[in-house]
Amino acid sequence: MVALDFRLTGVASGKSLAEQLRNQRIRKKTSVAALAKRTGLSPTTIAAVEQGGDSVASLLRILEALAPKAKRRAPERAYWGQGDKDDRDSRFTPDDFMQSVYAAFGEIDLDPCAHPLSPVVAKRKFILEHGDDGLTDHWFGKLAYVNPPFSEQLKWLRRAHEQWRAGNIRTVVCLVPARTDSAWFHETLRVDADVYFLQGRVRFLDTSGRSQPTPFSLMVVVLGASDEQLETFADLIPGFWMRRS
Ligand SMILES: C[S@@+](CC[C@H](N)C(=O)[O-])C[C@H]1O[C@@H](n2cnc3c(N)ncnc32)[C@H](O)[C@@H]1O
Repeated sequence: MVALDFRLTGVASGKSLAEQLRNQRIRKKTSVAALAKRTGLSPTTIAAVEQGGDSVASLLRILEALAPKAKRRAPERAYWGQGDKDDRDSRFTPDDFMQSVYAAFGEIDLDPCAHPLSPVVAKRKFILEHGDDGLTDHWFGKLAYVNPPFSEQLKWLRRAHEQWRAGNIRTVVCLVPARTDSAWFHETLRVDADVYFLQGRVRFLDTSGRSQPTPFSLMVVVLGASDEQLETFADLIPGFWMRRS
């Protein structure tokens, strides 16, 4: 269950399912003997299940008796739920969010993963359909804004970092799902980037201009900004600012 991030709602809390079941029984003021009677299991089996042992079949019988409405808690997803991959990777940053980016960091010189339908205002846009490729073409200018295809988030963050380190671009602002599981995030980004973990969610636009709620948390990764720019952005965007260390 831990490996699959499989957790239940509708049953008391606890560190393991066994503990949750025991807490649920206590919450329902049900004795082991009474539960044994209801489930047709022996008290020894119930005690074993509550210790994390015995069979899945016994566990399910106890669950059915104590928490019939328990169901799997939807795991947090760092991807869009519906649509094909190309569709999910083409969600555009809404103008209200962009206004905070312009206000804090200034005019955008480059959007290296742009789309003709995106409202992002940038002096130069790399557009895949026009033969550009933000993952290989050189970045340039003072400020790049990067809202990449989320299915390739790490690749784009690495690219942003590499172009920034190479001195091709002075400042990079990336809006991506808040994923902190890669060693690279902890070893490299934590040192070089200011990261804002956003409170609330940005409603991205789909290709037909409809705004969509995000089913995951977001972070803004900033490389090479001045203290003043960072302070201004922190004032404009609710969330937690993790300064580079
Ligand atoms: C999530 S959308 C964001 C568009 C825009 N940056 C915005 O924030 O509104 C990402 C876009 O990157 C484009 N893209 C994917 N791979 C690319 C590549 N290698 N080079 C340039 N653009 C790419 C896709 O066409 C997609 O529309």
